[in-house]
Amino acid sequence: MDTIKVLYGTESGNAELVADDIAETFNAAGAKAEVIAMALYDATELYEAGTVVVITSTYGEGELPDTTAPFQEALLAARPDLSGLRFAAFGLGDSTYDTYNNAIAVLSADLRALGAQQVGETGRHDAASGESLTDVAVAWAAGVLGAL
Ligand SMILES: Cc1cc2nc3c(=O)[nH]c(=O)nc-3n(C[C@H](O)[C@H](O)[C@H](O)COP(=O)(O)O)c2cc1C
Repeated sequence: MDTIKVLYGTESGNAELVADDIAETFNAAGAKAEVIAMALYDATELYEAGTVVVITSTYGEGELPDTTAPFQEALLAARPDLSGLRFAAFGLGDSTYDTYNNAIAVLSADLRALGAQQVGETGRHDAASGESLTDVAVAWAAGVLGAL
């Protein structure tokens, strides 16, 4: 399998921690994964990325963080054919908001609309749950890896 790109967008850093946990879980299981900030990744190259994991928190009132939004905007402007892309998705949010984990739902729908195939269920961390980010991310990563 090619290297899995673990792309994260964050407002206050939690999604970067989750990206590191997911990549470490993949690497420990013998896969190859690298963590890349969405802000530093050219979304128009996704068509040749093979397999990616997209991770984003939700901010404002259901909005994409400032480091996720430009990635989505570039994607929607270029509208690449993503029929060769497989992706898994993980969101960070807080269920006390009506817009719980809206950003990962929006981004996943955009990728699917461009032809990408989602693998596994979208993982979610709920800040209101009190659960550890790492525990939730590692359990999700271990479960989705076999399907990637
Ligand atoms: C000002 C503010 C607005 C937020 N808005 C939402 C929201 O609309 N929906 C949601 O699910 N979570 C919301 N959250 C919760 C964050 O997504 C959550 O704390 C997450 O762990 C932050 O991850 P990050 O550090 O990667 O940005 C909000 C948090 C803050 C501080």
